[in-house]
Formats: sequence, structure tokens, C-alpha cells
Amino acid sequence: MGDNIIHRIYVLVLFLIGLLVTSYLAFDGYEYYLLSIEHRFDHPDHQILKPSGALGHGLGIIGSLMMIVGVSIYMLRKRIRMFSRLGILKHWLEFHIFLCSLGPILVLYHTAFKFGGIVAVSFWSMMAVVLSGIIGRYIYLQIPRTIEGREMSLNEINQTKDALNQKLVQVYQLDESLLEAIMQAVKRRPDRSGNSMLKRSIAKFIFERNTIKEVKTILRKQKIAGKNFKEVMGLIQTEISLSRKIDRLITMQNLFKYWHVAHLPFAILMLIIMLVHVGVAITFGYRWIF
Ligand code: HEM
Ligand code: HEM
Repeated sequence: MGDNIIHRIYVLVLFLIGLLVTSYLAFDGYEYYLLSIEHRFDHPDHQILKPSGALGHGLGIIGSLMMIVGVSIYMLRKRIRMFSRLGILKHWLEFHIFLCSLGPILVLYHTAFKFGGIVAVSFWSMMAVVLSGIIGRYIYLQIPRTIEGREMSLNEINQTKDALNQKLVQVYQLDESLLEAIMQAVKRRPDRSGNSMLKRSIAKFIFERNTIKEVKTILRKQKIAGKNFKEVMGLIQTEISLSRKIDRLITMQNLFKYWHVAHLPFAILMLIIMLVHVGVAITFGYRWIF
């Protein structure tokens, strides 16, 4: 089995665990969670599902631990030299995302969908970190990286592009002039003069589709078909996506720097208030199963 397949299974398993746990908890408690506060006390599941209940309290503890572990292991792996050979950084980020998405979901069930007191600040900081995480993930993917997950320099990206071109010529015997025609099509940029973002996005979408169509026509004329056709198209699409990323590289690198600065304070705020909340809970004598 190739590494690629194992990696896909890894991501799929994480995703399925998240989906299963989330749907199980929703299915198990939706009747209770939909009730207003005053009606909850009479519900048979109140003692279990309330924030201090056997399940409710446990979800708060496990969810919080998942977030703490999810942040710590990623930061340790990324920043401490001793751990730098342990697995691939990109896979650790995926694990960070898994623990730090499922953790907040468990905490959401812990609150039983009622957010009061100063813990509400912790809750909304948590939501802000998750949301900013999703945005960060998007920016992260816009910056070309090595297999390991390290940012590539412009030089390295261009080398990757050259290697793709060479593969097209040497492995798939694409004609140099044909390749030139394809690269011309790939290099053209959509008209950016549209006045609204929506119009520009639609124009860009149509433009990209036309580029692909144009490349396909060029390939068909050369009688490249079947399995080769698919593989060649795959390589060319990688090139298209790489050249688009080069266009935006500086912007995305800067955005990512600012993003890092914004992501951390919310994480810290969440953690501090969480600790105060835990302290208060313990002081008030809540012990869960211990
Ligand atoms: C980021 C993590 C957490 C958030 C956002 C959070 C949020 C909340 C919220 C919104 C409530 C309901 C407050 C209310 O009814 O007014 C609550 C209650 C509670 N939480 Fe947490 N919680 C977190 C982690 C924890 C942890 C780790 C523990 C375990 C020590 C814990 C123990 C409790 C207890 C015992 C209650 C019930 C308090 C009561 O009924 O007076 N929470 N939490
Ligand atoms: C409670 C939830 C979360 C917390 C507390 C949290 C915390 C952090 C922290 C402290 C870092 C900085 C690590 C470093 O110094 O490099 C980080 C990085 C990151 N997180 Fe999260 N995160 C959370 C959820 C998420 C989610 C849901 C996503 C994605 C969907 C995400 C995506 C990322 C990305 C892309 C990075 C940057 C990785 C890098 O530059 O190497 N995070 N997170």
C-alpha cells in the first residue's frame, strides 16, 4: 500500500470518529438540549446531561484535555528540535485539527447549549479560535509546501514546475512546441476589472474552465488519450494551481504571518478563563467521577 493511501485512510478515520461522536451525542441528547432551562429539571436525562452531570461534566473535561493535548503536541513537534524527526509535520497538523475540532464540539455539548457567566467568554474565544483555525487552514494550503509541510521558497516552487514540465516532455513525450502552447494557455490571467467580488469569482471560474478545455483540445489533437491523457491532465492541473499560488504567494505569506499573531491571543484567553472556570468548579465541590 502506498503512503498516500495510508494517509487518506488516516484522515478518513479521524473524520469518521469526529462524525460518529458528534452524531451520537446529538442523537442521544437532542430532546433534552432543545428544552428551555426551566423545563430541563424535570427531564429524566437532566442528571446526566447537565454541565455538572455524569456525561455533561465528562465531556467538558475530555474536550478540554483534547484541546490542550492538540495544541501542545503540535507546538512541541514543531518547535522542539528533539521531536523534529517524529513523523511528518503535516500529519501532526491534521491531528491538531482533529483534536481541536472535536474538543470544542465536546465542550459545546458540555455547556448543554447554554452559555452564561464569565465562562461564556472562554466559550466564545474557543469559537473564535476554531473559526480562525479554519481560515488559517485555508491560507496554509495556499502556500506551496514540501511533502513534510515546510513552506517552499519561490525558487523551489519554480524548480517543482520545471520538474513537472520535464516529466511531461520525457515521460509522456509531449512535443516542446505543444508544451509551449499549453504553458501559454496556463499563463494567461483572467480579467480583474470586474467591480464586484462575486462577478470576478464567476469570471475567474469560467476562465479556468476554458483554460482546461483549451488544453484538452490541444492534447486531443496530439492523439494523447486513455490513461496517459488523465495523467497528463493531472500534471497540467498541478501546474495551473502552482502558477496561481505563485501569483498570490507574497500576499498569502504576509496574511499567514498576521494570522499567526491573531490566532494565539484567543487561544490563550480561552485557556486562562478555562482554568479559572475549572478552579471555580473544583472549589464548589464538583468532582465528576473522582
Ligand atoms: C473551554 C472549556 C470549557 C468551557 C467553554 C465551559 C463552559 C461551561 C458553561 C458555559 C457552563 C454552564 C454555565 C451556566 O450554566 O451558566 C459550564 C458549567 C460547568 N463546567 Fe464547564 N466549560 C469548560 C470546561 C470545563 C472543565 C474542564 C470542567 C471540569 C473541571 C468544567 C466543569 C464545569 C462544571 C462542574 C459546570 C457546572 C457548574 C454549575 O452547574 O454551577 N468545565 N461550563
Ligand atoms: C480550540 C481550538 C484551537 C486552538 C486552541 C488552536 C491553537 C493553535 C495554536 C496555539 C497554534 C500555533 C502553533 C504554532 O505556534 O505554530 C495553532 C496553529 C494552527 N492551527 Fe490551531 N487551534 C485550534 C483549532 C484549530 C482548527 C479547528 C484548525 C483548522 C481547521 C486549526 C488550524 C491551525 C493551523 C493551520 C495552524 C498553523 C500551523 C502552522 O503554521 O504550522 N486550528 N493552533
